[in-house]
Amino acid sequence: MERLQKVIAYAGVASRRKAEQLILEGKVKVNGKVVTQLGTKVSNSDVIEVNGIKLEKQDKVYYLLYKPRGVISTVSDDKGRKTVVDFFKDVVDERIFPVGRLDYDTSGLILLTNDGEFANLMTHPKFKIEKKYIARLKGIPTIEDLKKLQRGIELEDGKTAPAKVSMTTVDRKANKAICEITIHEGRNRQVRRMFEAIGTPVVKLKREKFAFLDLTGLNPGEFRELTKHEVKRLRVLAETGRID
Ligand code: URA
Repeated sequence: MERLQKVIAYAGVASRRKAEQLILEGKVKVNGKVVTQLGTKVSNSDVIEVNGIKLEKQDKVYYLLYKPRGVISTVSDDKGRKTVVDFFKDVVDERIFPVGRLDYDTSGLILLTNDGEFANLMTHPKFKIEKKYIARLKGIPTIEDLKKLQRGIELEDGKTAPAKVSMTTVDRKANKAICEITIHEGRNRQVRRMFEAIGTPVVKLKREKFAFLDLTGLNPGEFRELTKHEVKRLRVLAETGRID
């Protein structure tokens, strides 16, 4: 069961706020009856009409995209930049949206779906889904700096949760390094801000893993559908913290 305004919003008919307004204005029917109560719970078998038009029932779909750099993680962009959804135009009919975000300049693994409840499971920090990044750095962090990141570091929006961090490449001549970092939070520009805080800014960032998923077999700009089994494993992981 889901809240009516959420179902209307996820169907792509209106924003959550607009959906609430439509409900309050008496423009929404559930199984033929006008409903004006915000927060009314509906199930998949309920017939919902907005302004006399039935909400289409879409199958739930789940995709994994290798996002290239220079692409924005939204459904549309008022500045006309390429979005992650543009890769699916003419191929996928469902109204999909990205699960969380990657910065414009970050490449790597991002999921897209039309399943709002699944997206919430994957992004809510309490479900602790791990994301692994490869960060190319300007400068070389000290062991003590890396320990700070491992323990959690104070940023302007609070202390980060403990992270797994390892330095895989050091180039002393060129004064640069590569680190792998795994976090389960998803704050805005978090990895970049973490490395900035220890004085070794990120010059290139790629998300290599999301939970147990990786980019095997994909080039930048390519995507594949998740298998039913993968979707199930992701749900179980979020709900129980275990993979199998
Ligand atoms: N952390 C960042 O700084 N950027 C991303 O795109 C993802 C995580």
